[in-house]
Amino acid sequence: MNIKKHLVAEAAIELLEDGMIVGLGTGSTSSIAIDLIGKRVSEGLNILGIPTSKASENQATSLGIPLTSLSSHPSIDITIDGADEVSPSLDLIKGLGGALVREKIVENQSKQLVIIIDDSKLVSQLGICPLPVEVIFFGHEATSISLANLGCNPVLRMDNEKPFISDNGNVIYHCNFAEGIADPLALSLDIDKIPGVVTSGLFVNMADVILIGSDDGLKTLKRH
Ligand code: A5P
Repeated sequence: MNIKKHLVAEAAIELLEDGMIVGLGTGSTSSIAIDLIGKRVSEGLNILGIPTSKASENQATSLGIPLTSLSSHPSIDITIDGADEVSPSLDLIKGLGGALVREKIVENQSKQLVIIIDDSKLVSQLGICPLPVEVIFFGHEATSISLANLGCNPVLRMDNEKPFISDNGNVIYHCNFAEGIADPLALSLDIDKIPGVVTSGLFVNMADVILIGSDDGLKTLKRH
């Protein structure tokens, strides 16, 4: 058992209240949170979940968590999700689990975004890990040249010998920025302008609370 991930998942679940619409994140830390939500639901917690991936949907369904959709509930009370990197200003890189597009759509509709991480995800500047960018399959090699022109080395994400295909039927490029990402907002806007790009894993000004599991216990960062 990963004690740090359990610690933050348990702390996030404490924020849930009866009647809430809850965004369900994707990844190993979110998966622990979904397990705990399933337990709380079996004990009587009354929430409706909106998953950010087919994997989270399958997990939630198997645990008996009632689900809804953004069409029925476009305003989400709280989303609990992991992240790949968190900067001092609470900007994020997400999507190394491949679910960045649905995560960004769900989290953009959330009144509160709670990010659950262990302390290995804290960085002084984003870009130590590659930045995932979801790209429409048509012409994706040409789209990757436009990404490279922004100063990165884009590498097509593979799944064994074939390109990884997202839940939305698109490919993903992992963009490596040798010098890191100095201005996440500007880069996010530049990437989103490229025809063929769906979106990037830069989540700027979105997280409200970061719950961090460390050797010293639980730490909390909040957006001012
Ligand atoms: C999924 O697409 C990602 O955004 C995840 O939230 C991220 O990769 C964190 O995953 P872990 O909790 O497994 O580190």
